[in-house]
Amino acid sequence: MKKDPVWLIGFMGSGKSTHGARLARSLDYTFTDMDEYITGKAGKSIPEIFSTQGEAAFREMERRAVEELSKLEGIVISTGGGAPCHHDLMDQMNRTGLTVYLRLSPEALADRLKKSKTRRPLIEGKSGDELTAWIRETLTVRETYYGKAQLVLDAIDLQSSALFRKVRELL
Ligand code: S3P
Repeated sequence: MKKDPVWLIGFMGSGKSTHGARLARSLDYTFTDMDEYITGKAGKSIPEIFSTQGEAAFREMERRAVEELSKLEGIVISTGGGAPCHHDLMDQMNRTGLTVYLRLSPEALADRLKKSKTRRPLIEGKSGDELTAWIRETLTVRETYYGKAQLVLDAIDLQSSALFRKVRELL
């Protein structure tokens, strides 16, 4: 039986990597974090890619990563928050596998991102109300892409067992 990739999508801070790794273990799939896949190939961190090559170059790296990873079987991939919203990547992920959107409110995302230690160029220097407002505005645009996912889950108190059960039903 063919094991198409499972793509976890959603805004920065929505828990894609944590849930992705757990889901992969439950399904007995391998797990890849797309940001790590890209930084491994580029030999640079995400902030370095943004500052030396610019965002467009990073989006092109994401395009290539989706193309390469979509050929693999038995894999769960956590994607970067902007990946589904550039090129035709949302459609490509929908064509090649199962897409799962982990949905959270702007307020919950802001709370999580304020506590996160990961450096994210798009929100560097933003805090408090400015960060929440930026998330709200960006999320409104991105939801048009995220909303095309085959499975949409509210991720505020998402249990790994519930995620596993819902994904399993669709595989
Ligand atoms: C980005 C999200 C990040 C990373 C880059 C850009 C975005 O990934 O790809 O900083 O455009 O939302 P995470 O969603 O894993 O934080």
